[in-house]
Amino acid sequence: MPHYLQPKGLSWIYNGNTMTSSELLVLKDSNLLAQEAAKHFIEIAKASLASHQRFTVALSGGSTPQKLYKLLASDYKHALDWSKVFVFFGDERFVPPYESESNYAMADEVLLSRIDLPEDNIFPFATIDISPEDAGHLYEKELKKFFGDQIVFDLIFLGLGEDGHTASLFPGHPEVVNPSASLVKVVEKAPKAPATRLSFTYKLINQAQNVIFLVAGQGKAKALKNIFEGPGTVPAALVKPEKGKLVWLLDEEAAKDLKLET
Ligand code: 6PG
Repeated sequence: MPHYLQPKGLSWIYNGNTMTSSELLVLKDSNLLAQEAAKHFIEIAKASLASHQRFTVALSGGSTPQKLYKLLASDYKHALDWSKVFVFFGDERFVPPYESESNYAMADEVLLSRIDLPEDNIFPFATIDISPEDAGHLYEKELKKFFGDQIVFDLIFLGLGEDGHTASLFPGHPEVVNPSASLVKVVEKAPKAPATRLSFTYKLINQAQNVIFLVAGQGKAKALKNIFEGPGTVPAALVKPEKGKLVWLLDEEAAKDLKLET
């Protein structure tokens, strides 16, 4: 069973701000973590469908979410009317969509191709026969066309790198040092290959109704300590939804250095 844990005595002082609507759950291992994440996904999806007849979600890349995506494609294959689900990507590596490094390719392999999700409901970044800059502008245009003026995702999933990056917002990068009013940014010279990427910005992420970080493994413990116990200098620490709910789903390995109490 997940246990609710709060930073000891910090009563949710998250990076200097008292968090109101947020949760931190620590799960025993990465399998239980994926199960808890799937539960959150389905709950938020059902609430979104009930309130506005659609569910918009931005998926994260990397390895951590793959167990979640496989669960959604199997145990939860029939849990939703997928025709009302719309899938975007919080970041993308600037490689062709058929290359294994592509976040779209990974999600398509383990989830999107295995559920009754119409092709038109999936919004991959354009990464062939286009420049990264134009791909970023095109994605922003698609977001505005789909959402209208207010771009508020029902759910944005995020991962966390060992250096505290999230999406493709890396330490020392312009969008982290000086967050812009853009919604999507080109990222060059990313320290995690591939070097050229496209990423949601803090502005877009922090507008979301729900943001869930999915973090597993002891390699992330140091970044989590920076975020929860200060000084909050890593990129993921700047994710602070303006009105939305922030949920951190961690496994015990990732949470090992946090002062938590049950
Ligand atoms: C990417 C991801 C990235 C990822 C973290 C954690 O495109 O690489 O969006 O932000 O979430 O690097 O990756 P792991 O889950 O593989 O540790």
